[in-house]
Amino acid sequence: MVEITHQLPCADAPAPLATVLQQLRTATAVRHRALEARLPLTHSRLDLDTYKRIIEAYYGFHLPLQQLIERFLAPHAIDPARQKIPSLIKDLHALGLSDTQIYALPQCRELPAIGSIAQLLGVMYVMEGATLGGQVLRRIIADKLGIDADSGGEFLDVYGRDTGRLWKAFLKQLAEFDTPLHNAEVVQAACATFDCFQTWLEQARVLNDA
Ligand code: HEM
Repeated sequence: MVEITHQLPCADAPAPLATVLQQLRTATAVRHRALEARLPLTHSRLDLDTYKRIIEAYYGFHLPLQQLIERFLAPHAIDPARQKIPSLIKDLHALGLSDTQIYALPQCRELPAIGSIAQLLGVMYVMEGATLGGQVLRRIIADKLGIDADSGGEFLDVYGRDTGRLWKAFLKQLAEFDTPLHNAEVVQAACATFDCFQTWLEQARVLNDA
């Protein structure tokens, strides 16, 4: 597996005296807005086939990323409450894929590097933060496509009623780590995660034109 680190600094890098969370928010805001605008999940013409292809592409990114995290942390150190793959598999089954078809889905090979706690926290900021947007998206999917947690929409509400608690627990971890020496590495990893995810979704042809 090829792991790439995006070496370019974030163009919109904030002042280093800001907290690491403030730095993350400033540095990734443009990337978040761009991805949000291009993902068809909120678009009026969203249909079931597009939604299915988005969940397939999400699986193809989350699975190898989860494996990368496990290799860095060792499987026993993973918080079982933060498992996302079982929900993706459940959704893919509900959307009509067999185990064989799920196994054959393409997986992303250009992932953000995870070689330090700073990089891990940067990656987690993006993937955990996405669960907040999921709270908005799950309602949209229910309204537009009639999909709920049992018919293909569990991933968008992957933590259910624990969403807020798990996000706060992550922010506490981030605040405890906060140190000027390593914050730039956290921010760099978060930017790289957004970039890798966007590139992957582009390759999967599920994003609208920029
Ligand atoms: C159409 C797609 C998306 C929508 C509508 C959306 C919406 C939102 C909303 C409403 C929040 C704020 C929630 C709150 O403050 O309670 C949020 C936060 C966040 N989202 Fe998204 N999002 C989308 C896609 C994504 C994707 C694909 C990612 C990354 C893979 C992502 C990463 C984040 C992060 C990191 C935060 C946390 C920001 C912070 O509070 O520091 N979002 N999103």
